[in-house]
Amino acid sequence: MGSLSYLNKYLYKYRGSLLMGLLFTIFYNVFGVIQGPMIRKSIDSLSVVLAGEKNVAEANTQILIYGLVILGTTLISGVFLYFQRKTIIGMSRMIEYDLKNEIYKHYQQLPLSFYRKNNTGDLMNRISEDVNHVRNYLGPAIMYSINLVILFVITISIMIEVNPTLTLYTIIPLPLLVITIYSVHNRISARSEEIQKSLSNLSTFVQEAFSGIRVLKSYSREKKSIDQFHSMSNEYKDKALGLTLINSLFFPIILFLIGMSTVMIIWVGGKQVIDGTITNGNIAEFIFYLNKLSWPVASLGWITSMVRRAEVSQGRINEFLNTHTSLSSDEGLMPTIKGNLRFDNVTLQYANSKTKALKSISFEIKAGETLAIVGNTGSGKSTIAYLACRLYDPTSGTISVDGIPLKSLDLQYYRSYTGFVPQEVFLFSDTIRANIQFGKDHATEEEVLMAAKQAGLSDNIAHFPEQYDTILGERGITLSGGQKQRVSIARALIRNPQLLILDDCLSAVDTQTEDEILGHLKTVMRNKTSLIISHRLSSVKLANRVIVLENGEIKEEGTHEHLIQKGGIYFQMYQKQIVDKQTNVQEYL
Ligand SMILES: Nc1ncnc2c1ncn2[C@@H]1O[C@H](COP(=O)(O)OP(=O)(O)OP(=O)(O)O)[C@@H](O)[C@H]1O
Ligand SMILES: [Mg+2]
Repeated sequence: MGSLSYLNKYLYKYRGSLLMGLLFTIFYNVFGVIQGPMIRKSIDSLSVVLAGEKNVAEANTQILIYGLVILGTTLISGVFLYFQRKTIIGMSRMIEYDLKNEIYKHYQQLPLSFYRKNNTGDLMNRISEDVNHVRNYLGPAIMYSINLVILFVITISIMIEVNPTLTLYTIIPLPLLVITIYSVHNRISARSEEIQKSLSNLSTFVQEAFSGIRVLKSYSREKKSIDQFHSMSNEYKDKALGLTLINSLFFPIILFLIGMSTVMIIWVGGKQVIDGTITNGNIAEFIFYLNKLSWPVASLGWITSMVRRAEVSQGRINEFLNTHTSLSSDEGLMPTIKGNLRFDNVTLQYANSKTKALKSISFEIKAGETLAIVGNTGSGKSTIAYLACRLYDPTSGTISVDGIPLKSLDLQYYRSYTGFVPQEVFLFSDTIRANIQFGKDHATEEEVLMAAKQAGLSDNIAHFPEQYDTILGERGITLSGGQKQRVSIARALIRNPQLLILDDCLSAVDTQTEDEILGHLKTVMRNKTSLIISHRLSSVKLANRVIVLENGEIKEEGTHEHLIQKGGIYFQMYQKQIVDKQTNVQEYL
């Protein structure tokens, strides 16, 4: 029960429900078990009549009374059963809710490196499947365990008082029942898990086929896709049929074992009746007890298997909950930030990589300056952007803002000063307005319009069916690559950031729009710091200075004019792009 002890804090929190559940269970069982003696008395009064010791009318009234008592107690015990389930299962739902919230909150605090290590499926499973297994422990498993203990104590003490020998014979087959159910249930669980996996493979496949439908159709892969689906679906079917087989065996086995015990009671009890130690009524009563006990006892096998699974699941959840972010701030400083960004001998090696993405880089952007970073693919440009937003911490070296190391600043506070436009655009399936407003809580309509204008989006949006209320993504329209990039820029600009970081976010925009956006940025970013990463040198025009990156090292640094004069890497890149432009023009002519 190691990992499950984590849940004790929640059990403590809901101790009221647990206690009430316990009381309801006691009442449910006490009222449920009264039927035993009533059955005995009814049968015994019949026997007395048959023996001619009592008249029929008298016996009838007695049996009627017993019948009414049975009816009444059954009803009352039913009411308690209702409350028992309502409180304990209700409690498990509340804990499930709390636990999910706790996990999600924790997820949000974990750094990017965590998300690199664990795939989305895994993250989703822990918050859904695993929590569900845990809930089965908190709800049904705890409920049936409490029930079993109470029922056992009450029933067995009544039985022993009536006849110890017969009690022994009644309970001997019960452990067999537990073991059988345990192994059958284990097999059912294992199969169910396989089926679940098969099903999730199937859904992943279908989902991918739908989202990649453009590629799929243009490569005429429909037939292949159908065949693949067919074989996966077939695998699922076979597994499901296998489970049905075991499931079908489950109940006959239980009924057989209960039947065996009943035979035992009649056989052993019959002998005692003949000897005169017990009455016919006692046999009937014992059969009732056996039936009362067998299902809860059988559930012990089921509970054990459920608790085992819950333990594994909680273990997995704990593993995540015990991962803590390294991106914390000891001092949590919150000074007003001007935006003088400085890298000192910064080296970064990604956790799963052998080479260094950045090698001892130093540079400074003064507050109010614009710095451009150019370089080949994989030279480390995006890495600089991540570091500047403190999505990662450098392996060595320091990054500071206004002379204060980033590590000393409160992370949320620092990020509220930054506006980051990542290289890969991600927009939410929501309206354009909501996507832009994402950058700033409670942004006004004017602010949204302004940000869209600065990002060169206004004209485009005017042509959309519902302007700013147009829904994007799966449920709505698909934007062009350049439009997406500009929504992403507007989302950053609405924050009015002191530090703007654009990671190659004008790559899909035509040069004319690029010029327009850069023109806006020039006004917006006056007195603020900008870091512009680009492949295209046309985006660099605006910058005060340029850094040329190659294999994680700074190769050249200076103004555009200075670097052109120098005739190095930058000059070669520049010439190549000019030539490309000219050839393009010539092709059109
Ligand atoms: N999360 C990561 N884990 C491991 N290696 C990474 C990770 N991200 C980037 N890299 C590696 O670090 C190096 C620098 O990557 P980076 O994304 O910074 O390049 P870039 O200059 O932005 O390239 P591009 O122009 O293509 O965007 C590359 O060799 C890349 O493979
Ligand atoms: Mg990049």
